[in-house]
Amino acid sequence: MERLHISGGRALDGNISISGSKNACLPVLAASLLSADQIDISNLPELVDVSTMLRLIKELAGKCYELDGSALSIRAEEIQSKKAPYDLVRTMRASFLVLGPLLARCGYAEVSLPGGCAIGSRPVDQHLKGFEAMGAKIEVRDGYVIAETPEGLQGADIYFDKPTVGGTENIMMAASLASGTTNIFNAATEPEVKNLGDFLRAMGADISGHGSNQIKIKGVSHLKGCIHKVSADRIEAGTFMVAAAATRGQITMNGADPRELEAVTELLRESGAEVETSVDRIRVSMDARPRAVDIETAPFPGFPTDLQAQFMVLNAVAKGKAFVREQIFENRFMHVQELIRMGAKIELIGSNMAVVTGRKALKGAPVMATDLRASSSLVIGGLVADGETIIDRIYHIDRGYEAIEKKLSMLGASVRRIRK
Ligand code: EPZ
Repeated sequence: MERLHISGGRALDGNISISGSKNACLPVLAASLLSADQIDISNLPELVDVSTMLRLIKELAGKCYELDGSALSIRAEEIQSKKAPYDLVRTMRASFLVLGPLLARCGYAEVSLPGGCAIGSRPVDQHLKGFEAMGAKIEVRDGYVIAETPEGLQGADIYFDKPTVGGTENIMMAASLASGTTNIFNAATEPEVKNLGDFLRAMGADISGHGSNQIKIKGVSHLKGCIHKVSADRIEAGTFMVAAAATRGQITMNGADPRELEAVTELLRESGAEVETSVDRIRVSMDARPRAVDIETAPFPGFPTDLQAQFMVLNAVAKGKAFVREQIFENRFMHVQELIRMGAKIELIGSNMAVVTGRKALKGAPVMATDLRASSSLVIGGLVADGETIIDRIYHIDRGYEAIEKKLSMLGASVRRIRK
């Protein structure tokens, strides 16, 4: 088991490059199953979740890809298995995204139900409702979703009860090869959905409106190969933005797209940070103790749930009191008890509200990572705190942050990976 050892108290200072986005590339990898032609993907991040998706692709289409650093060539000539097994879906919920492509390409799919996870129950009812509207017969048997379309998928009007990123992506992929037109209403507007739509268009799909809450997809009979560059990870960039402000340092993030981080930029400025942006660069600096800022997570372009834990650390060392309301997931405060171990003053009110009273300093402590973004908040906590912090279970962080200790070291942090 690996741990991160952090000696805190240093301001982060310097430049880093933002890696390719985890949440943008996972649906793109799933979508590559829609074509038998070659797809070349660049800027693929080296992450555990990416390796898991490649293992799943191998399971379904054989070893149909070559990976060379961050460049991937993939050609899913033949689908050999239509079953996404429990072991792969259990470790990564995004595996459920192969349901749409399998169903569209083969008319049949068996995909393990993902089940709940640390941040909440995370049902897939909206995905299934969409496939059913498109004519799929769905049955849940022995923990698997078994979906069949004997007559092929038919375009349909689909109204999501709430915007869902994965649900929108799954339906977009399936609808690209369906007969007729699909309209998705109350679609998710996250940049990763826009990005998937652009990728599908490069494959020859007829999609419009992606990036807005109403998406139109006219099915085509065939999708072709294409080339695609994975966009920069807005959540990685946001994590470093918050780390710069919390440690009262300055970081320039190259490759980051400021249009995807406007809500974060606004709140960081409210907290006293200076944020400068250009087309593909963000610079954050902070030279005084931050001011506490209330946050409320919301679908894009609102403040992202994936940065709520990190921002809580900034509030934990800020002047004043802040209310943090989590509105996307029901159980996304697992980091709170760990931050309290580091001396943070945080009170939970019900399951989705926290009140954070800023302290002058945090104190290093042994803590345990519980999920991906919770672990990055503990890293920021460790960087800010006086003394030593040891973070256990850091496999969570390797799912979504490429070369985290290398990047932090380049910024002057004292961070080491240690084995028990
Ligand atoms: C994506 O998850 C991201 N994952 C998450 O990132 C991110 O937190 C989330 O979107 C919200 O932005 C990937 O892109 C791989 P949702 P997803 O479907 O698609 C409920 C990270 O740390 N819901 O938009 O699973 C659901 O329970 C991760 O990188 C239903 O009720 O999120 C949640 O409350 C974690 N029924 C809300 O909708 C459904 O059928 C939003 O979930 C689907 C979702």
